Amino acid sequence: MTGHQKHDAVPLLSVRGLCVRFGNGNEAVAALRNLSFDLGKEKLGIVGESGSGKSTLGRAILKLLPRMATISADRLDFCGSDIGKASERQMLQIRGSQIGMILQDPKYALDPTMKIGHQIGEAVTLHLGKRGKDKKTHILKMLDSVKIRDPQRVYELYPHQISGGMGQRIMIAMTLVAQPKIIIADEPTSALDVTVRRQLLELLDELVTARGIGLIFITHDLDLAEGFCDRLLIMYSGQILEELPASSLSNAKHPYTRGLLESMPRLEAPTERLPVLVRDPAWQRDVNGSLSQ
Ligand SMILES: Nc1ncnc2c1ncn2[C@@H]1O[C@H](COP(=O)(O)OP(=O)(O)OP(=O)(O)O)[C@@H](O)[C@H]1O
Ligand SMILES: [Mg+2]
Repeated sequence: MTGHQKHDAVPLLSVRGLCVRFGNGNEAVAALRNLSFDLGKEKLGIVGESGSGKSTLGRAILKLLPRMATISADRLDFCGSDIGKASERQMLQIRGSQIGMILQDPKYALDPTMKIGHQIGEAVTLHLGKRGKDKKTHILKMLDSVKIRDPQRVYELYPHQISGGMGQRIMIAMTLVAQPKIIIADEPTSALDVTVRRQLLELLDELVTARGIGLIFITHDLDLAEGFCDRLLIMYSGQILEELPASSLSNAKHPYTRGLLESMPRLEAPTERLPVLVRDPAWQRDVNGSLSQ
């Protein structure tokens, strides 16, 4: 499955047989069914319709799911060691320092009562032990590294005084403080307009490439994923239906991926009516991951 990948001998993340269920017994919903994939130093796009399990996948890696969720996996290796069996205490170490997460709306992740500079400062003290002048210099450096033009001014602002695009830059800066090996970004640009989105993607691309980070980029936007990512996992109903290099998307084989492509509006080939995506029940697997047909 991973033969065409270019990455170091040990992948940053190696997932085998990942399953997530919400609830118990007859009421249980299987949100992830037997997922397996590797992540190297690359931009891996997770694409699929709403409800296909993209966010659940991101959260399962960090074990950030509600109590009612049951996670199981044959292997969940982070840099060669199995975090599938890690305790909550060990996961606390990993979250935020080794594996960072960026969500759609920075408003919910930032503390509205605290100046931006102080929020980044908390991460700088926590992860790097810096205090005083050293700390302030580092905060300004982080703001500068995400191309915020006037770091001194932004340092003094409160979250309600900044735009969505700047909020995402600040979230990226905070995530980078700890120098994570992996970043999981769940629809990080969905709330932004086209120009700001393009700038943010350029920034993210530059940063992850320069720092050798493995990026899991979750989006429902196939077009965006094709342009931005190196490799794509196409999800449907909690499964990976197809895995392919982003550059080969137009040659996708699975009928679901083909259907997604054909149901996207194209400027260069306008049609009167877009085809409706037809789903085949045979694509569904049972909860244990085997095909249900
Ligand atoms: N806390 C929860 N409790 C019960 N079911 C859940 C919970 N979170 C997600 N699910 C279910 O798991 C499945 C996958 O949801 P998930 O949020 O991962 O999809 P998604 O691909 O991220 O969708 P979207 O594009 O809308 O963000 C859905 O069927 C959803 O209803
Ligand atoms: Mg989601």
